[in-house]
Amino acid sequence: MVAPSDPADSPSLQQRAWSRYWASGALTSLPEDFQANYDGEIREFWRARCAPLADGAAVLDVCTGNGAVALLLAEALSDLGVGARIVALDRAEIRPELIRQRFPALARHVDSIRFVGGRPFEEAAFEDASQDLVTSQYGIEYCKPDAAAGQCARVLKPGGRLALLTHATDSAMRATMEQELEQYEVLADCGLFQRARDWRAGALDGDRFVRALGEIDAAVRRTSGAAASPLFAYVLGLTGQVGRWTTSQLQAQRKAVIDAVEQLEDGRSRLDQMLGVHRLLASPEQFAGHFEQAGLVLDEHGPLTYRGTHAVGHRFLFSKPGNDVSRG
Ligand SMILES: C[S@@+](CC[C@H](N)C(=O)[O-])C[C@H]1O[C@@H](n2cnc3c(N)ncnc32)[C@H](O)[C@@H]1O
Repeated sequence: MVAPSDPADSPSLQQRAWSRYWASGALTSLPEDFQANYDGEIREFWRARCAPLADGAAVLDVCTGNGAVALLLAEALSDLGVGARIVALDRAEIRPELIRQRFPALARHVDSIRFVGGRPFEEAAFEDASQDLVTSQYGIEYCKPDAAAGQCARVLKPGGRLALLTHATDSAMRATMEQELEQYEVLADCGLFQRARDWRAGALDGDRFVRALGEIDAAVRRTSGAAASPLFAYVLGLTGQVGRWTTSQLQAQRKAVIDAVEQLEDGRSRLDQMLGVHRLLASPEQFAGHFEQAGLVLDEHGPLTYRGTHAVGHRFLFSKPGNDVSRG
């Protein structure tokens, strides 16, 4: 009987998965689609949010990652000649200094932003009514919805705005993700993640770890659809290779093997989060309801189309009743 490994939705695993991702120096969460920062209609959407702001405005970008949206806002405000204070916050450990190195042209904007890593938005202690604009892209939907909506309503000044660009959802993609998550759950149930953790902690010696991998290999092969799964093919490649190593080879490759298993576990956690988000966003009206419930007014929402064709997300614009903001 294998002890259950951490569920994919444990906050520490989620945080580790994203911290590892941002430590790679990525600027966006869609690096295959964007070589540098988000561009086109996404960039325009964020630039337009800056137009009403005046000198001294306070802007908060939540779930910022390595700061992609905060940087678009900093650039737009600088072009407008508006001096604002921008804070960019994320629960994961973030690495804006890597963005500074990779994109020297962005260095002055990186330096103009106050980055706060390792802090869940739900628990961030910003002052009440302190922000003119709160933004989040592909981000706030990962937070606890009511707690995050309550924070937005609390920290916005009366008349302040909340602008969100959430993931676009698509039921075909959701079905594929559900299938892939089931395969990750097979790996968790076989004990892959727990065994690697035990080996790393010294609770399991190398020989027993290799034996455990042999059992995992057999269990994966018995799973229906194993032959067609790229995920299982990868795992079987790993278990097969480790199974052929001598004890000293295994010892020499210890870190690489543990890293490979942890990356699989991070993949499971990211996929689990994405699925949670797809379920939450299935009805934009219900999602917006969390923010309305918190006291914000939904001014508009609708899909955001990229290059005129491709739905890259759903935009929501909210305002807080009242009129006490920094406006030009
Ligand atoms: C898909 S990335 C989006 C990053 C960036 N906004 C972008 O558009 O590329 C989601 C981010 O949300 C962060 N996140 C998830 N839950 C969070 C929470 N409760 N508080 C703050 N950040 C959170 C993750 O650490 C991750 O960096």
